[in-house]
Amino acid sequence: MPPFHIREATSDDSPALQNLQAHSPQGTGLRFTTVNKPDFFARSRLYERPRVFVAEQDGVLLGSAACGLREVVLEGQPLWAGYEFQYFVDPAHRRKGVASALHRRIETALREAGAAFSYLLVAEDNLPSMRLFERQGFALYRTLRAPFVLPYKAMSAAGQGAVRPAVPADLPVVADLLNATWDGFTFYKPHTAESLQAAFARMEGFSLDNLFVLERNHGGIAACVGYWDWRKITEITVQALNFRLKAIRTALNLARLVTSVPSLPGPGETLTQWCLTPVGFTSPNALRAVLVSINNRALEEKVGQLFLVGERRAHWFSALRGFFTADTLTHLYLKPLDEALTLPENAPVFLDAVDV
Ligand SMILES: CC(C)(COP(=O)(O)OP(=O)(O)OC[C@H]1O[C@@H](n2cnc3c(N)ncnc32)[C@H](O)[C@@H]1OP(=O)(O)O)[C@@H](O)C(=O)NCCC(=O)NCCS
Repeated sequence: MPPFHIREATSDDSPALQNLQAHSPQGTGLRFTTVNKPDFFARSRLYERPRVFVAEQDGVLLGSAACGLREVVLEGQPLWAGYEFQYFVDPAHRRKGVASALHRRIETALREAGAAFSYLLVAEDNLPSMRLFERQGFALYRTLRAPFVLPYKAMSAAGQGAVRPAVPADLPVVADLLNATWDGFTFYKPHTAESLQAAFARMEGFSLDNLFVLERNHGGIAACVGYWDWRKITEITVQALNFRLKAIRTALNLARLVTSVPSLPGPGETLTQWCLTPVGFTSPNALRAVLVSINNRALEEKVGQLFLVGERRAHWFSALRGFFTADTLTHLYLKPLDEALTLPENAPVFLDAVDV
C-alpha cells in the first residue's frame, strides 16, 4: 500500500466524510458518534477562514480534521486563535500517525494565518485524544463544566420580568450585556451589534427568534440566552455511557416508575440538543428566568438536552437550581504558536458553547 497523503477536502468529499464519521466513535467510557449533516462543512463555517483536511490512501479517506480562526482578546490584546476540531480517523487505521499528520498540516495552516496559539477541546474519557495532543505539544489549560440540562417539566420564574424573542433594536443592548457579563474573562472578545449579527449568520438556521431576552418590568434587558438547534449541523448518537452517566440513567429509569423524571439517552439513541449561546446576564436569577422559558419551549418542541459551558466553580451555575442536569467535563488544551505568548494562570476563561 502507498503511504497516505494529506490534502484539503472539497465538497465532493462530504458523503465519504460523513460515512467515516458514522464509523468513528470517540471516547473510551462515554462513547458516541458525531456526524456533521446534512452539510458536513456547516460546522467549520462557524469560524473565520475555515479549512478541512483529509488523509487519503489509494482514493480512500482514512481520516479528517478541521481548523478555523477566532479573534480573541488576551490581557487587552486582540489576537487570532486557531481552533482545531472534527478530528476522526477510521478505527482500522488508528495508531498509524494519521491524526498526527493531520495536526501537523493544520498547525502549518494556522501559523501561516497568523494564529498566536492553537486550542482544542477534548471531552472527558477521550484518552486517545488527550495523549495524541499532549504528544503534539499541547498542554491542558483548564477543565470546564459542560452541563446538559434535561427538560422534563414546565417551570416558572415569576417576578423577574417578561421573556420574549429579541428584535433587531435589542442588539446593541445585548452586546453591552454580553460585554459586561464576560468582562475580564480570558479570550472574550467584546461584541457590537454588527459582530453579533455576523456570528448569528454563521449559525445554520439561527434567527433572532432563537434569542430570548428578559425585559425587566421597569425596562432594560437583564439577561439573554440563545438556543440553537444543534441538529442543524450535527447528529450525535450514543454508543455507550460512562459509569457516572449509566448510574444516573438507571436511577432515572427506576424513579420513572413512581414519578415524572427526565430521560437520559442510552446506547443507540440520537441526541436532540440545543446549544445555549450567547449567554449574558446581570444576575443568576435573571439568567434562570430565561433558562426557564427555554426549558418550556424545549418541552413543547420535544428537545431532550440543552448544553452550555463555563468554569467549574462559576457562581452563575446557581441559575441551574431546580433544573435536572447531567454534568460532563471538557478539557481545554492549548499550544502557543507565538513563542512570546504567555497565558494568565488564574483568570477565568470564556468559552462559547458552539466550540464544545
Ligand atoms: C483520537 C484519534 C483522532 C487519534 O487518531 P490516530 O490516527 O490513531 O492517532 P496517531 O496514530 O497520530 O497517534 C499519535 C499518538 O497519540 C496517542 N494515541 C493515539 N491513540 C491512542 C490510544 N487509543 N490510546 C493511547 N494513546 C493514543 C499515542 O501517543 C500515539 O502515538 P503511538 O501510536 O506512537 O503510541 C482517533 O483515535 C479517533 O478518530 N478517535 C475518535 C474521534 C475523536 O475522538 N476525535 C477527537 C475529538 S477531540
